[in-house]
Amino acid sequence: MEVEVLKRVLARVDELGGISDSAEYLQRTFLSTANREAGERVMGWMRELGMDAAHDAGGTVRGFLAGSAEGKAVLIGSHIDTVINGGKYDGALGVIAALGALEQLKVEGVELPFPVHVLGFSDEEGVRFQSTYLGSAGVIGALDAGMLAVKDEGGLTVEEVISQEGWHECAEVFSYDETNAAGYLELHIEQGRVLEEAGESVAVVSGIFAQARLRVSVEGLADHAGTTPMNLRRDALAGAAECVLAAEGFARENDGMVATVGVMKVLPGASNGIAQTCNFTLDVRCAENDLLESGLGVLKGRFAEISKSRELELKWEVVQVNGAVPCDEGMVADLVKSAEKVTGTARVLGSGAGHDGVMMSRVMPVGMIFVRCRAGLSHHPDEFAEAGDIEAGIDVMVEFLKRRVQ
Ligand code: GLV
Ligand code: MN
Ligand code: MN
Repeated sequence: MEVEVLKRVLARVDELGGISDSAEYLQRTFLSTANREAGERVMGWMRELGMDAAHDAGGTVRGFLAGSAEGKAVLIGSHIDTVINGGKYDGALGVIAALGALEQLKVEGVELPFPVHVLGFSDEEGVRFQSTYLGSAGVIGALDAGMLAVKDEGGLTVEEVISQEGWHECAEVFSYDETNAAGYLELHIEQGRVLEEAGESVAVVSGIFAQARLRVSVEGLADHAGTTPMNLRRDALAGAAECVLAAEGFARENDGMVATVGVMKVLPGASNGIAQTCNFTLDVRCAENDLLESGLGVLKGRFAEISKSRELELKWEVVQVNGAVPCDEGMVADLVKSAEKVTGTARVLGSGAGHDGVMMSRVMPVGMIFVRCRAGLSHHPDEFAEAGDIEAGIDVMVEFLKRRVQ
């Protein structure tokens, strides 16, 4: 691809990586100030490319070339939100790469006989609400009452955040389904080590694993740390710790399953007090829906036994379950041909990480390109992808779009 186009892509990854709600690290959660600023920046780049750009009430941004062909649009994008203390490639690269691919096609003078819409989703990580894909759910009309009622840590619901803190006054409603969209394509860093170990730049994604996100609460009795005998304690934190280890142990016993507790809050939170309440998140994933379902059943049972044996009360709330999503066979086949042409090889990989394609797949075919990332490290500030690998990924995207012209 053109050196200048690649340089712009890399500079934009750095630029977006500098837009954060924290002065110390990268954080852009759903509809935060930085999340909206990142959206403004992306819309500016869209306009530089001659695109019409706008955002919807949920903070998702979109651009398309005015006066381009009629017909079903090919959607390309990723997300502009990040985790807390995240890396600058997760999500942002996919949005910026989509603009890079269109710029490359412009340089080459290629006019696509179908419209292309670039999307930057405002929430894929689900950090603020534990409920993920709020941006992509919005554009396919899947933000249902259940999702709108989920609360953040401050007690605000998704609906309240959209109407109080977001871009609620905007008139734009992005609405995609099988009648106006031909498919959704996303480029993303692999967030695993397969490509690095294989010494390859890019892969084609076969599908996205099933995932469940839960909120668990263990209730005990706050008491004095100095005077309460060990055998009389109802320590919520000790019980929660046993649950965390039970989840870890269970996932280790089941090949292909992963379980993570990433957030834990201890109340009232005093060094000389026994914990009354311990609230924690639980994220469980695996390739098969059945294994996820049965696994959740087993884990709930184990947590209940632990709680009972310690005279604690367990609350188990399933915030979101997304079944495994296969990528579209036709898109996978075209991406494989495109990757083979660009790099000479095309490995096909499953994704343990969640992506916006999960939501988009409800109404259209989805396909994904993975780009190698250093040590497979992601959700970490040291996340990194080489320029040459990013270039290969964008070249695959360009080739995929050109193939649809023939
Ligand atoms: C997003 O990165 C997820 O897989 O949770
Ligand atoms: Mn991501
Ligand atoms: Mn992520």
